Amino acid sequence: TYVVTENCIRCKYMDCVSVCPVDCFYEGANMLVIHPDECIDCGVCEPECPAEAIKPDAEPGLEKWLALNAEYAKTWPNITLKRDPPADAKEWDGKPGKEGLFDP
Ligand code: SF4
Ligand code: F3S
Repeated sequence: TYVVTENCIRCKYMDCVSVCPVDCFYEGANMLVIHPDECIDCGVCEPECPAEAIKPDAEPGLEKWLALNAEYAKTWPNITLKRDPPADAKEWDGKPGKEGLFDP
């Protein structure tokens, strides 16, 4: 499966939802997650994310983010249409410590 990671927080560009063939993105207040049981591992979303926040779960160190994706995909609403990202998305891109700003 692919996993949405820290840099999505407050960037939330949503380009990813436009390309997913199985519509497996779920929307929280300031980031999206991928449902690990629905993702078919096609990989097309990874290069679409301007924040480079989407990674294959085979990458080391992503266990925490995989668990977060799995947990919140169960309760957050499905999102299939891209909207405008936050006005300050660019300013947040690459900022360290965004994990603490996660808004469930
Ligand atoms: Fe969707 Fe493919 Fe990305 Fe999985 S890897 S979330 S199926 S676009
Ligand atoms: Fe987040 Fe990137 Fe999608 S910033 S909303 S994973 S395009």
